Amino acid sequence: MADGPAVLGYYTLSAHSIERNALPEDVVKKLKLPKYALIPATLMGRLAVDLKYQGQRIGEILLMDGLERSYVHSSQVASFAVLVDAKENAVEFYRRYGFLKLPTGRRMFIPMETIKKLIGSTRRAG
Ligand SMILES: CC(C)(COP(=O)(O)OP(=O)(O)OC[C@H]1O[C@@H](n2cnc3c(N)ncnc32)[C@H](O)[C@@H]1OP(=O)(O)O)[C@@H](O)C(=O)NCCC(=O)NCCS
Repeated sequence: MADGPAVLGYYTLSAHSIERNALPEDVVKKLKLPKYALIPATLMGRLAVDLKYQGQRIGEILLMDGLERSYVHSSQVASFAVLVDAKENAVEFYRRYGFLKLPTGRRMFIPMETIKKLIGSTRRAG
């Protein structure tokens, strides 16, 4: 995301996968995930806003943009969720949008089902 020559913030998206065993059993059941050892997912990386521009909702705009792109693409290339490797100080930022923590490590995920609702609610609010 840029404003003229200034880069305000950025993120990356890449095709990824997660071990079915790494997911909580209730999530596997609720989302009716296939019985593959690896479940396709989308990894959002490097989300960051330039220090000078933090606190102006740019992080939220970038996150929502990435989630919406991931959701749209998941109708053609299978992906059950967006994953992030959250830094300690960003866990609460992600949690407020519906990301859940995996039982171990710093990885968090938000199912496509939740993203669909999130996109719907921001469209209604906006
Ligand atoms: C985390 C980051 C992307 C947030 O971007 P931002 O533009 O400053 O945040 P926004 O202005 O969009 O904030 C949206 C909401 O999230 C909240 N929020 C922002 N950063 C937060 C954090 N680290 N923890 C908890 N809440 C946070 C804001 O208070 C705001 O809440 P409100 O709706 O009550 O007003 C940014 O601070 C950053 O780049 N941090 C350094 C890199 C980093 O940690 N990236 C995450 C990679 S894992």
